[in-house]
Amino acid sequence: MKLAARVSRIAPSPTLAMAATAKAMAAQGLDVVDFSSGEPDFDTPEPVKAAAEAAIRAGFTKYTPSSGIDELRQAIIEKLHAEQGLRYEKSQVLVSCGAKHSLYNLAEALLEAGDEIIIPTPYWVSYSDQALLNDATPVFLRTSETSGYAINPDELQRLVTPRTKAIIVNSPCNPTGATYDRKTLEAIATIAVRHKILIVSDEIYEKVLYGGATHISIATLSSEVAAQTVVINGVSKAYAMTGWRIGYAAGPKDLLTAMANIQSQSTSNPCSISQKAAVAALKLGGPFTEKMVVEFDRRRRFMVDRLNSIPGVSCRMPSGAFYAFPNISGVLGRKGPRGPITSPQELANHLLKEAHVAVVPGEPFGSPHHIRLSYATSMESIQHGLDRLAGAFEKLSV
Ligand SMILES: Cc1ncc(COP(=O)(O)O)c(C=O)c1O
Repeated sequence: MKLAARVSRIAPSPTLAMAATAKAMAAQGLDVVDFSSGEPDFDTPEPVKAAAEAAIRAGFTKYTPSSGIDELRQAIIEKLHAEQGLRYEKSQVLVSCGAKHSLYNLAEALLEAGDEIIIPTPYWVSYSDQALLNDATPVFLRTSETSGYAINPDELQRLVTPRTKAIIVNSPCNPTGATYDRKTLEAIATIAVRHKILIVSDEIYEKVLYGGATHISIATLSSEVAAQTVVINGVSKAYAMTGWRIGYAAGPKDLLTAMANIQSQSTSNPCSISQKAAVAALKLGGPFTEKMVVEFDRRRRFMVDRLNSIPGVSCRMPSGAFYAFPNISGVLGRKGPRGPITSPQELANHLLKEAHVAVVPGEPFGSPHHIRLSYATSMESIQHGLDRLAGAFEKLSV
């Protein structure tokens, strides 16, 4: 069958693929430690489950308005106002099947052949593939580990062309765990406003912060910046609701209307029951997430310290999200049972085969020097997994 050309430009999500392989190995009875999944191991909060049960019992199981129920859109408007001081009307808010879907609607509404979107590296895997699926060109803004993945405004300015449509801002960042300070955000906003570039602010990890790090939404810098920013967020990470599939976008009315039209012709509404559950989640506010973050913080410090104790591995302490992103260049070139390990992908394969530990290689995040490990898994798995990982690294001969 001759498929559309766009299909050949993308690969399946590598994080989901690695998680699926780990699950398949576990289903065969193997004891696999999975550091690949980007989802909290905590259970969805009880009041959220209760709201979903009540929705089912009340027969709230039919189509809803395509852009989401008023109650949820209002809860999102109130959240953005109470927590960020941002003001949106209902027509500027779209509820979708996860933040990934929000981003996809955005890519489809905004991008076409010849357009460019600037993506700071390392980056979350789907930004570039969603651009490619919509015929646009991802333009990568390299950042360095030594500068804490800070954005250099001069380099950003150099990448801007008349074809630049948007720039991604993902703070806290998946995979690096870096957070942007106000100065960095101001520098990005100045360039975006000067060149009329849309800012896509993916704030899905806004509440997952450590050691006094703070989250600043770039949209809060000024009304001029807000008018040029789409805020993307959802309930997956903050409320342990990855499977419920609720995300949202808030931003300029013409763009959000276009995104809503696309959704109405593609998926229609996100799940009615999940929408009621998301209303309950947003009502919970901070305390649930704060409890999770205390535990993530303990695991973060343990995992990073342990990784740094492995010869050839060095790992920065992340200030947000729930991933360690160790640099493994010191290990590349060493020999495993199947020959030299020359890339993060080969190292990830080695770790899965030899140690039954699933990690995600750095290449799809735009890094040939790193692997990504999620610490949103139990402390017991982390201890056990890192013991095995250290053993598998030791077995690589120089
Ligand atoms: C940076 C980032 N943005 C968006 C998403 C999508 O989240 P969801 O579709 O579960 O709401 C993820 C999920 O891993 C992510 O890491």
